[in-house]
Amino acid sequence: MSTATMTEVWHPNVGTFVAQTRKMLINGQWVNAQSGKTFPTYDPATGKVLAHVTEGDKADIDLAVQAARKAFEQGPWRKMTSSDRGKVIWRLADLLESNLEEFAQLESLDNGKPLTIARAADVPLAVDLFRYMAGWTTKIEGNTIPISVPYMPGAEFLAYTRREPVGVVGQIIPWNFPLLMAAWKLGPALAVGCTIVMKPAEQTPLSALRLGELIIEAGFPEGVVNIVPGYGETAGAALASHPDVDKVAFTGSTEVGKLILNAASGNLKKVTLELGGKSPSLVLSDADLESGIPGVASAIFFNHGQCCAAGSRLYVEKSIFDTVVAGVADQAKQITLGPGMNPSTQMGPLVSVEQQQRVLEYLESGLAEGAEAVAGGKRRGDQGYFVEPTVLVKTTSTMKVIQEEIFGPVVCAEPFQDVDEVIQKANNNIYGLAAAVWTKDLSKAHRIAARLRAGTVWINCHNIFDAALPFGGYKQSGWGREMGHEALDLYTEVKSVCAKLA
Ligand code: NAI
Ligand code: MG
Repeated sequence: MSTATMTEVWHPNVGTFVAQTRKMLINGQWVNAQSGKTFPTYDPATGKVLAHVTEGDKADIDLAVQAARKAFEQGPWRKMTSSDRGKVIWRLADLLESNLEEFAQLESLDNGKPLTIARAADVPLAVDLFRYMAGWTTKIEGNTIPISVPYMPGAEFLAYTRREPVGVVGQIIPWNFPLLMAAWKLGPALAVGCTIVMKPAEQTPLSALRLGELIIEAGFPEGVVNIVPGYGETAGAALASHPDVDKVAFTGSTEVGKLILNAASGNLKKVTLELGGKSPSLVLSDADLESGIPGVASAIFFNHGQCCAAGSRLYVEKSIFDTVVAGVADQAKQITLGPGMNPSTQMGPLVSVEQQQRVLEYLESGLAEGAEAVAGGKRRGDQGYFVEPTVLVKTTSTMKVIQEEIFGPVVCAEPFQDVDEVIQKANNNIYGLAAAVWTKDLSKAHRIAARLRAGTVWINCHNIFDAALPFGGYKQSGWGREMGHEALDLYTEVKSVCAKLA
């Protein structure tokens, strides 16, 4: 591990931001929790406290929902033209872009990810998402519909649909891409005119709170976006079960996704869920290995494997299995681990001591059941939450490591003989978030893509995300889609208006 002292100098705003206890955003004001409580957020590279954050729970969620309701029913937000709504969202994108370095540093410090990645991916993707959604505000259209009404012969009607905002939305987001997940959720909800109460993950609340400051600066009316940091079991649960919330959108574990669904049943609020994955990478014998080997390695090691679409099952055609596994193991061994803020770091620590423990338990279980680590396999160093990039072989279909989401830098490699067999293996999982196919035979690739039960299939690439491309899961990977115009549909209700012409 790189232990060189940090050469990156903190952006001055970052120092000021983490030095003060961060308040929550309710009705356009920065306020303390009703309980007066705060909680710490840690630097995962050292385990030391990075900042203190006010701890919201049910009482604060109630106030935030009230503010969002008022902003939805009475505020200027609903009366604004769609063009003006688009301009405010675009302004937020501009502000975020002009503060890119500060956001990248906050993200790296709070989450542990390399600063280089936060700069190149997390922040620019969030900027782009807001711009994409800003463009949609003027294009949320209904239809005019010719109706026949057989029981009223001769009568004439004008019938049309309107797409209206679903209302007050609760958004609960995870810690793996804190700013980007906030953008994925806020963007479409704002574009259609909803109001929002967002609960960031307790591990990584800082970038969402800083974004709250830009939301005020951009000119969103008070109460349109409320941000309440706190724990899942308290603030999160209160939001998911709140009787005056019209929809809840959640990203996180499948286990909590099911809790959200139960909590939402009280008032039958709409639910969208983006949950876990165990995405397969399929490498065929005719694949270009020069790009394929680094491709399948980065599929799992990007963001330390803490990526819902991580390519965590690697299926390689038998004739090239040894070559590919050796290549991926080699890549794993070459990755420079270190604090995210170090310029030379390629992989940072996992987000929390709990996540590190969870990943190490999976490694123990896999090795105890007969898997073998050809790279990595254990914790790295004794400070911070580092785990070695790991390649497991000799896994079998019944092992926990091949069935369950590990959410760490661990890939299981298995050989296959033919396409039917690998499709069966790839689909043999409770999840269906993403998959990748590596081959030079594009006809074959598209045929395989059609047979994979996954919300996204990448061909000769992995982890390609774009604001315009819908993302979400089949099976237990979730309900609904993020991004693209599909996301907008899920934040609207369709109203049918039918007028009888005189
Ligand atoms: P989690 O599902 O507990 O946390 C995600 C969000 O849900 C956080 O904001 C959390 O505060 C909130 N939450 C937790 N319990 C809640 C409840 N009862 N009601 C309402 N909100 C609640 O995920 P966690 O514990 O951080 O990680 C556990 C595993 O979940 C990971 O190992 C990984 O497998 C998976 N995960 C998947 C993610 C994805 O992108 N699909 C993101 C984060 C975690
Ligand atoms: Mg949890």
